Order: sequence, then C-alpha cells, then structure tokens
Amino acid sequence: MSEKFYITTPIYYVNAEPHIGHAYTTIVADVLNRFHKLAGQDTFFLTGTDEHGDKIVAAAENSGQTPKQYVDHISGMFRDLWPRLNITNSAFIRTTDAYHQETVRNILSLVKEKDDIYFSEYEGLYCFGCERFYTEKELVDGKCPDHQTEPDVIKEANYFFRMSRYQEWLVEHITKNPDFIRPERYRNEVLSFLSEPLEDLCISRPKSRLTWGITLPFDEDFVTYVWFDALINYVSALGYPEGALFNKFWPVAQHTIAKDILKPHGIYWPCMLKSAGIEPYRHLNVHGYWNIDAGKMSKSVGNVVDPLALVDIYGLDPFRYFLMREMAFGLDSEFSEKALVQRLNADLANDLGNLVSRSLTMVHKYFDGHLPDAGPSGEEDDALKNSAIELIETYRSYMEQMAFHKALMAVWGVISDVNKYIDTMAPWVLAKSDPERLKIVINHIFETIRIVAGLVWPFMPASAEKIQEQLGLSIQGGECRLADLKTWGREKPVHPIRKAPGLFPRVDVKKKEEEIPPATGKDKPKKAKSDKTEKPGAISFKDFQKLDLRIGVIMAAEEIPGSKKLLKLTVDMGEQRTVVAGIKEHYEKENLIGMQVLLVANLEPVKLMGVESQGMLLAAGDKDGLHLMTPDSETTPGSKVK
Ligand code: MSP
Repeated sequence: MSEKFYITTPIYYVNAEPHIGHAYTTIVADVLNRFHKLAGQDTFFLTGTDEHGDKIVAAAENSGQTPKQYVDHISGMFRDLWPRLNITNSAFIRTTDAYHQETVRNILSLVKEKDDIYFSEYEGLYCFGCERFYTEKELVDGKCPDHQTEPDVIKEANYFFRMSRYQEWLVEHITKNPDFIRPERYRNEVLSFLSEPLEDLCISRPKSRLTWGITLPFDEDFVTYVWFDALINYVSALGYPEGALFNKFWPVAQHTIAKDILKPHGIYWPCMLKSAGIEPYRHLNVHGYWNIDAGKMSKSVGNVVDPLALVDIYGLDPFRYFLMREMAFGLDSEFSEKALVQRLNADLANDLGNLVSRSLTMVHKYFDGHLPDAGPSGEEDDALKNSAIELIETYRSYMEQMAFHKALMAVWGVISDVNKYIDTMAPWVLAKSDPERLKIVINHIFETIRIVAGLVWPFMPASAEKIQEQLGLSIQGGECRLADLKTWGREKPVHPIRKAPGLFPRVDVKKKEEEIPPATGKDKPKKAKSDKTEKPGAISFKDFQKLDLRIGVIMAAEEIPGSKKLLKLTVDMGEQRTVVAGIKEHYEKENLIGMQVLLVANLEPVKLMGVESQGMLLAAGDKDGLHLMTPDSETTPGSKVK
C-alpha cells in the first residue's frame, strides 16, 4: 500500500438537487478516505460541482435566474449537504472557479500545441440531455439510450480532439493494468468499446449557441465542451501543473463514479491526460445504480429519494451503513425503505447495539466500571481473540477491493462470534461461580468490541466514536490505526465505564408507517389489509409479532411504600428497565435476584403507586398462586422471545 491516497467523486451537475445516488458515491469516497486514514496514509478527498453547459442554462431559465445566480444556489446545496452526511472532503471545486478555468485553458493550449486539436465542420446527431453527439450505432431504436429522446441533427463547425491517436495506447494501458478500471465488468465494457475505431471528440460549442462555458484560449468565438472542462477538475483542484498537492497526490489518483459516466472517464479522460503529457490516474472505481421499483430514479416519475429526509427519520449512521452494506459495489441495487429498517433493527439495534450495551452494563455491574486485570486465557477465549485479530486483515483486503459489503459482513461475523461467546460463557453465572474467569471473559469481550469499533469507524464514524468513548478509550476515530487495533490489550480505559444509552434505537415499523411520511414519493404507506380468516377472539400472527417479548434478569427488588401487592424490580434486558410487578404476595424479594424472566418490553410506560413501570413480567396463575415465566436454561438477557 502506498503512503498516500487521493480519491475523487464526480463533480455533480447543478441542474437538480442532490439525491441518494449522489449521496452514495460521496459516502463511498468518504468511507475509502477514512479507511486509508485508518491505514495510516496521508489522504486527499475531492468533490465539487459541474456548472457549465446547456443543461445548466436551461435549468437556470426554468427557475427564472441567471446562470450564475442559479449555480451559486445549487452548488451551495451540495456543499451544505456533505457535512450533514459527515463527509470529510479536503476540498470542494466548482468549474466556475477562476483557477479551474485557467487550468482548462492551459491544458487546451498544451493539447493544441501538440497538434491534437483541429477545426472541422461536422454534422451529427446531438442529444442535449447528454450534451454530446451520438453515432447511429449508439442509439437504441433511434433514441438516446439515457434520455429516450430522439437526438437533433446539428451541423456545426467545431474544434475536435484527436482522440483516435490514443486508442492503441489506451487499449495497451488497460490490458497491462488489469485494475485500471474496476470491477472487471466495466473494464471489459471499455475494452469492447475500444474494439471499434475511436472517433475524435468534439470539444467546443460556438458562442452563437452557448455562452455559458470557458472560452477557448485559441478562439474567442467558442466555449469548451462541458466534459473537456469538467474532467480537468481532478487535476486543477490539486494545483496542476506545479502545485505541491499535484506532485504529491496525482500519482495515486483514484476516481469513483457510477456506470453512467464510464465512457468520459474510461476513454476521454485518459486520452486527454496522455495528450497533455500527464500520467494516467491509478484506478477508476465504477459502481452500479440505485434503482426504485426496478427503474431509474427520476424527478418526473416522482421517485427521487431525498437523503436528508432518510437521515432525519433513521439517523445518519444507519443510513450510511445501509447504503454500504446493501449494495455490492459494481452492481445495481434496489432501494427500499423497508430494507433499511430491517437492517437497522437487525444488524444495528440487535447485533451491535445490544452487544455494546450489555457488555458495558456487565463491566459496570461486576467491576464498578473498571476493566479488571485478568489471568491466562483458555481455548475458547483464544478462539475469539484469533477471529477478532484475523478480521483486521480480512477487512483490509475487502476494503482494498472495494468489496464494502463483504468487509461489513466479516465484521458482523465477529460480532456474532462475540455474542455467542457471551451466551456460552454466561458472565452472569461466572459472577457467582468463578470471578477469576469472569475477568478473562470480560477482557475478551472488551477487546473484541475495541476492534469492531475501530473497523466500523469509516462507515459509521459518529457511532464508532461513541462506542470508543463509552469504552473509555483515549485513542478514538481518525486517531486510531489498523496496526494498533491488532495489539491485543493495547489500551486500558482512561475513565470508568459508564452504563450508556442505546446506540441505535429500534424503529417500530408499524408506528413508522402511521407517523412518519415516507422519504420517497413512491413509497407511500399502504393501508394494512384485513386478515382473511378472522375468527372471533383470534389475532393474526402479524398482531402477535407486535409484542416485543424479551428475556431479562432481575437485578434488584424493592418494596413500594404503601403497596401490599407491588414490587419495584430492576430488570436487565441488555438495557436496564424498572418494572412494577404485582408479585409481592407470591415471592420473597431475595429469591427474585438473578432470576431470569420473560418481559413485555414494548408496553407504554404506566405509573403505578408513583413509580413508572417500563415493562411487564409474564406469569401464569393457578390454584397455587402466581408463577413467573422463566426460560428452561440460562438465556442471554435481551434475547427476543418468538
Ligand atoms: N457532471 C457530471 C460528472 C462530471 S465528473 C468530471 C455528472 N453529474 S451528475 O450530477 O449527473 O452525477 C452523476 C453521478 O451521480 C453518477 O456517476 C453517480 O456517481 C451519481 N449518481 C446519480 N444517480 C445515481 C443512482 N441512481 N445511483 C447511484 N449513483 C448515481 O454526470
């Protein structure tokens, strides 16, 4: 791995507001940037806006503004969105920035001096949506494949870039560098395109038709074609040709895009660089599309997903996690809010959130918040330790291949290992039977969570930092290094571990449908269908599922002054709950401590004799009195009863 890392997103058109597709690419770049920081590298992360061309002029006219007023406004929306998604870009470039315009003119002059630009009359099929000429062959049923509109026939004298000169070189470069364009499917797509003769690229627009662009340095009557202008952002932002940033970061440049703009990035851009005498970029990382109802997101269909609406409803980190976990980088994915809720509840609230909360509760409860010194570990402890340490290299390798979903699956594999380890070791039993082993077990749980927190940081930075803070670690977030994560027992907490509030509140799907407007135009909440087989008194399985039944352990039992029947219980179900139960006449307080019980965890809280009860214990009554329901063997507190 090189010492440095440079990542870019496409610079987004400002003819529409940011949506989930833009958010995804930018989050991918942010995750990569953070991962490379974790790996100890010096990084630079660039995003920005593409502000010239016909499309922007049309959008400005529609909104009754001048192009400048319009681009300032929408570019500002992109710029403001990124901090709200915890995006840590190093720079934000606009193609209307003076320094960028200067660089474009410099590169055009260089390419012209090389005799790679010529003037010619051309008649062709032009798609205004794509801002480019199409060949007959590229059209589908005579229409632009992207916009499904018939192109206009345009006859114009224009400047052309001799791209055809670089075809052979490019094929050779791609063949010699198998990961120049990745994943492989996109490399093959570009190579297949290059198997036909490459046409030269029209790189100007006459000012009689368009003035909103960068004037050519060698002809005042023309502006630069928007793609020739936009691609140069990747070097102008670094201060090409002489900037220190350029010298440092260009040799390790990686671009991230979706498949829609593969051709300009995979073909035009390397040829432009070659002609200008600049080294090609290192990698082009290409991902698929987020679709809705198996189709493209579009304003006219009304199915554009607003990232901020989702973040407001579900929280930023669940949103970031979902996008990275759900999409296999390179393939298309279907976006669904339902899938997001499922991931939030299962992977985040249940698996990770519960693990952290019950583990911290144990350190707090058994050791007063201080991580104890522990004796030598046994076989099962070592197995957990090994899988946590091995995870670091597995994760690194997946991250380097852009296989983010696999990296996360590997992390969740270890989360599941540690959850199973807790269940098997039963620290609540060891607390009574073997305090020395308890210390070893608690240390192994603590260390595994320390590793997990470090590895999830690129994906969910705020939650990872919260976990690191709750663990009392002094090295947090971007200060953490992969190499340090590997050193078992490296860090002792610098403050006592406190009981912490849950990291990821579960989303009650039913409540969500009733109360929260959907984030997409299409995904309107549907009326619940009535059950077909309604029997008097019968409830549907769906209704039964509304009950959140959990296993809890009674930690404390107190009398409630003035009450003959009620006891105030403290129940640990991963988090602690106060439960008022009418069992005083049936149980001795002392006998209840440590007893495992079944708890209805999602009842509305009620006040009984002045004490708020946050759940209900299940019990059966017969002639002998009341019998609390209890599992037939030790069960992890917080486990769901189904
Ligand atoms: N301005 C050009 C890029 C110039 S880069 C030198 C452009 N802009 S764009 O606003 O249309 O952005 C396209 C990019 O937005 C895609 O390549 C991708 O990164 C992102 N996405 C837009 N819609 C998307 C989906 N539905 N799904 C995933 N990403 C998508 O093209």
